[in-house]
Amino acid sequence: MQVNIISNKIYARSDDVILAGYPKNGTNWLDQVLNDLEITAAKYTEEEINERTNITNELFVMPRLELGDPEKFKRMKELPFRRIIVTHLSPEVLPKSIFKSKAKILLLVRNPKDTAVSYFHFHNNIPTLPSFSSWDEYFTAFMHGKLCWGSYFGYLVEWNKHMDDENVMVITYEELKENQTLGLKKIADFFGFSLSEEEIQTVAEKSSFEAMKEKSFKTHGTFGKILFRKGIVGDWKDHFSEAQSKEMDRKFEVCLAGTKLGEKMKYGVYCN
Ligand code: A3P
Repeated sequence: MQVNIISNKIYARSDDVILAGYPKNGTNWLDQVLNDLEITAAKYTEEEINERTNITNELFVMPRLELGDPEKFKRMKELPFRRIIVTHLSPEVLPKSIFKSKAKILLLVRNPKDTAVSYFHFHNNIPTLPSFSSWDEYFTAFMHGKLCWGSYFGYLVEWNKHMDDENVMVITYEELKENQTLGLKKIADFFGFSLSEEEIQTVAEKSSFEAMKEKSFKTHGTFGKILFRKGIVGDWKDHFSEAQSKEMDRKFEVCLAGTKLGEKMKYGVYCN
């Protein structure tokens, strides 16, 4: 699948909420979290929530900045509320206005081994994506970055250059799994969403894996089941051979070990 880089048509606003993440790092999860935090903090009426939901559903049928009808950029310009923009694009191809506007960017990262497994199942279950005849064949493609949206490692190496940007915050899939409420509080503080403890708790409950999977199955049927597959840390242990695990360790060492982003990911804890 070819990803069209059409996103330079968007002019970022300083209050935009940008969610960046390599595919299968939990972007649907955080998309919902950010929407719920925003809606709750803004204290919209029921009517305003419905209007906002209708507009965003229509606009973001493919809820990624780089996908869908380019006409959406015109409509995005006129949105009367704070925009939540989700993208898998690497920073060097993101619209320059995002960095210039100082819009805040939440970078979501997940350990490479679980990311690889999740993306493998996604490729093999979505008919519009190339499928792989075996895990081994797929593993080679992942290691060489021959997948939609390119190399996982290349993506993170590029983002690592932004670790000192004051408008960029990193959150890991694994820390959210360990303590979702704490993760949500950090996110709310970063974007300036003002919520009580109870409100944070309600958002956390609505965005639990089970709640999201059930809702998605009702609205999207089988596709919902594909999107919300297992939602765990460590599934890679059922897929990787010892040699593959070591190969990935070496790749991480070369690309990210000792970097700010690499440290944040706690590779040794989640990939050993
Ligand atoms: P698995 O395939 O390992 O289950 P994305 O949304 O970026 O496509 O990422 C999908 C991955 O995030 C899937 O991982 C999915 O199950 C997981 N995920 C989605 N919602 C989640 C949630 N609420 N809690 C934990 N994991 C979630």
